[in-house]
Amino acid sequence: ARAWRGVVEEYRDRLPVTANTPVVTLQEGGTPLVPARRVSELTGCEVFLKVEGLNPTGSFKDRGMTMAISKAAEDGAQAVICASTGNTSASAAAYAVRAGMTCAVLVPQGKIAMGKLAQALVHGAKLLQVDGNFDDCLELARKLSVDYPVALVNSVNPYRLQGQKTAAFEVVDALGDAPDVHCLPVGNAGNITAYWMGYKEFAAEGPATGTPRMLGFQASGAAPIVGGEPVRSPRTIATAIRIGNPASWQTAEQARDESGGAIASVTDRQILAAYRMLAAEEGVFVELASAASVAGLLQSAEAGGVAPGSRVVCTVTGNGLKDPDWALAGASSATTVPVDARAAAGALGLA
Ligand code: F0G
Repeated sequence: ARAWRGVVEEYRDRLPVTANTPVVTLQEGGTPLVPARRVSELTGCEVFLKVEGLNPTGSFKDRGMTMAISKAAEDGAQAVICASTGNTSASAAAYAVRAGMTCAVLVPQGKIAMGKLAQALVHGAKLLQVDGNFDDCLELARKLSVDYPVALVNSVNPYRLQGQKTAAFEVVDALGDAPDVHCLPVGNAGNITAYWMGYKEFAAEGPATGTPRMLGFQASGAAPIVGGEPVRSPRTIATAIRIGNPASWQTAEQARDESGGAIASVTDRQILAAYRMLAAEEGVFVELASAASVAGLLQSAEAGGVAPGSRVVCTVTGNGLKDPDWALAGASSATTVPVDARAAAGALGLA
C-alpha cells in the first residue's frame, strides 16, 4: 500500500488537469465507506455511510476546492472569493493558504456554525458577515468576481464539481460496482450534480458498472426544488443547507430524472433524530445537514420507495465537531465527582 495522494493525483486521468497545473492539495478524499448496521436493520437494506467529514477541513468541499484552487493558481489568480453557509469558506480558506492566495468569504450573518467561522478565521480569510441569506451572499460574490480581480470558487465554478465527482469513483472502487441507491443532502445542489457526473463517467467506460438512483433531500423549510419555486426566506436548523435558490437547480433535476431518482424533503425533526441516531447507534458524528441523507433514506424506505435488499450509500457530508451546540443541547450534563473511586463508581452506576 502507498500513501493516498489527494483526489487530483489519484484520479488525474479523469480530471481537467495537465502537467502545467500546480496541484494544491491537503491530501483530501480517500474517505471511509462505513457499513451502517443500525440503518441497515431499520431499512432492510445494505447501507453504507460515505464519511466525508474526514476530509482535511471536515467536509466534502475539499474535493472540489483542490481542483478550483489548483486551476485558479494555474490561471495566475492571487485572490479567491466565495459565498458560503460555512463549509465552503472553511475549505477555500485552507486551500488558499496552501496556494499563497488571499481568500475572501461572504457568509450569512449569525447563520453559520461556530466551528466553520473559526476555520475561516484561523486560516486568515477576510470574512464578511452579510446582512442577508446565502442566496444574497452568492449573488454578491458573483458580482465581485466579475468586477474585481478575484476568482469565484463556489460550485458555479465548474472545476469544483469536477473535483467532487471523485467521491462517486471512490464508492465504485470500494464496492466493486455502483450502489442501487445513493442518498445525499441537497443545498446549492452541486454535490448531487457532481456525484451523478462521476457515476455516469464510470458507467460509460466499463460495462461492469451501473448507476444508482439518486435520492436528494432538502430541509422542508428550505426545499425550493421540491416546491418548484425559489424560497425567499429559507428556514432550517441545518444551516449548511439553508438555501432558497440553488445554483445547480437544473443539473440536480437532471440527475434526479436521468437516474430515476427523486428529490424530496425531510423535516428538521427528522434531521435531528437521524443526527442523534448516527452518533448514538453508528458511532459516526456528523453535522445536522449531513443527517438529511439518512433521514431521507429512512423516510423513503418506510414509504416503500427503496426496496429491501438494496445496496445504499448515504453521503454524510460534514463533521459533527463543526457544530457541537446541537450535540450538547440534547445531552445530559456531566456529573462532577471528587478524586475518589467509590464516588466515581457510584456516579457511573457500577457499584
Ligand atoms: N452538507 C453540508 C455539510 C454542506 O455544507 C452542504 C453545502 C451540503 C450538504 C449541500 O451540498 O450545496 O452541493 O447541495 N454547503 C455549502 C457551503 C452551501 O457553503 O458550505 P450542495
